[in-house]
Amino acid sequence: MAFQLSTIVLIVLQFQLSLTDHCIKRYFNQNSFVCACDTRSCPPIPGTTRPPKGYLDQWVSSRTQHRFHLTRVNLNHLTRPLYPPSLVVTLRSNDRRQTIHGFGGAFTDAAGLNLLTLPMDLRDQIMKDYVSTHGIDYAIGRVPIAGTDFSSRVYTYDDNNDEEDLELKNFALQPEDTNLKIPMIKRALELKNGPFRLICSSWSSPGWMKTNNNITGSGFLRGIPGGPFYKAWARYLVKFLDSYAKEGVDFWAITTQNEPTQAIENEDFFYNNLGFTPENLRDWIKDDLGPELEKSGYGRDNLNLLLYDDAREYLPNYTQVVLTDETAASFVNGVAFHWYKIDNRPRYNELNVVHDKFPNHFLISTEACEGYERFSTRRAQLGNWTRAETYAIDIIEDINRYTTGWLDWNLVLDLKGGPSWANNPTDGLILVDTDRKIYYRNPMFYSLGHFSKFIPPGSVYIGHQVQGNSRGVYLAAFEDPSNQKVIVILNTNDNPVNLVINKFASVSVPITLDPHSIRTLITPSSNVS
Ligand SMILES: *[C@@H]1O[C@H](CO)[C@@H](O)[C@H](O)[C@H]1NC(C)=O
Ligand SMILES: *[C@@H]1O[C@H](CO)[C@@H](O)[C@H](O)[C@H]1NC(C)=O
Ligand SMILES: *[C@@H]1O[C@H](CO)[C@@H](O)[C@H](O)[C@H]1NC(C)=O
Repeated sequence: MAFQLSTIVLIVLQFQLSLTDHCIKRYFNQNSFVCACDTRSCPPIPGTTRPPKGYLDQWVSSRTQHRFHLTRVNLNHLTRPLYPPSLVVTLRSNDRRQTIHGFGGAFTDAAGLNLLTLPMDLRDQIMKDYVSTHGIDYAIGRVPIAGTDFSSRVYTYDDNNDEEDLELKNFALQPEDTNLKIPMIKRALELKNGPFRLICSSWSSPGWMKTNNNITGSGFLRGIPGGPFYKAWARYLVKFLDSYAKEGVDFWAITTQNEPTQAIENEDFFYNNLGFTPENLRDWIKDDLGPELEKSGYGRDNLNLLLYDDAREYLPNYTQVVLTDETAASFVNGVAFHWYKIDNRPRYNELNVVHDKFPNHFLISTEACEGYERFSTRRAQLGNWTRAETYAIDIIEDINRYTTGWLDWNLVLDLKGGPSWANNPTDGLILVDTDRKIYYRNPMFYSLGHFSKFIPPGSVYIGHQVQGNSRGVYLAAFEDPSNQKVIVILNTNDNPVNLVINKFASVSVPITLDPHSIRTLITPSSNVS
């Protein structure tokens, strides 16, 4: 019996290990490679694993060599490291913090347009890459309410500019919803093994509601909160929720507005946008949005209302003004923010400040992309490993400061980083060569995957301590809902780093981190000494 069991384990193990060569490497003059998929060859990404008691699974991706390379380690056969470790990490199992909501990306018009250029099977393969256990197992999707800069035209759901339609008689979903976004979302819901959470955000109101009478450019809602335009805008958002519900798509959260500071801070801002000052946002939530959502069955127990949804820079302004007002705060469940670094200052400490002041409102990062700098010539790139590292660093810095989830921007872009009517291309995790019907998984796909694939919703953040030289090394630890301990570690150094992890498994675990590599370690919690 024992013999048979070990034979089975061995076969299963070999099967898993052989799948780790799933990446067909392609090089495009960058410091790393992409994994290529076309209709002839697209080996599946290995599925998530559960190491048995006494074992540890180690998944590694690196600049020069690996993508999700799996090895299973027998904890009883660990050898003493040849060199003393430069770094000792000790988990603090009693220091349990935030519960994780999940990781994901955005179902934009651009993503839908790019998918439609591919044959059906490749299109579906990309959705599997994102949401299945044989992919990076995303648990959250963000959905723009009408158009964004990543649409092929400028539109909202009520665009008769000659007329003020305060009763929203002309409100209607657009072809982008029925042909692009809803089919993608429904496929994701089918493929996902478990709940998939959807967050929606508006970019702009119809032009006739705005002070500049234009969907694009800096403008605010006309009048004051409590007035007819602010009320109509709250009803418009409810109509969106109702229209998607009719199509079978229900939301987990809505943000109050995508990037409300652009109209204030960025005078020459020229794409879909709607500005809110902190005070306007507070009063609109209190007088119009909060009551309207509640009345329509979307109160805080049914739908999470997420405040802010913009770069960390003005996070203190908005949370201070809105969440110190008892009535406004009572409608709000969480605080959403974006990764963009204004003036190159990340301002991570704002997250601690917000958490300490408002511990009952959860934090979540709702948008990120590389190559976004306005005048950058380095927009979309194939195989830039540095960007895999900037992604992992940002996720870890956020998560180490109470953040409960992290979302990328467009799920799928073309080789130029579009389409975008505003000519504002950026980089993406998956880029499609629309002419050759090929798609590429960028290194960022794997670095975000080192979190999303192994830290499902319901995982709990576990604190840790470090001793020694941790320069260029970033890590975060968790316990997942099926009682496994999970650690993600990034090494951004040009040299290997020897470290030892205590209180993770039944024994201290010595590890050598390859230069420029990211790894996820998983072991059953019962292994902890
Ligand atoms: C809206 O603004 C854009 C520039 O951002 C301009 O090209 C367009 O003509 C404006 N539309 C209206 C209706 O004023
Ligand atoms: C944010 O607060 C700072 C400091 O009080 C202030 O200077 C700035 O104008 C505020 N910005 C916004 C967008 O409210
Ligand atoms: C790779 O991306 C980083 C971060 O955006 C950038 O600084 C660097 O210049 C890029 N590398 C190349 C070769 O363009």
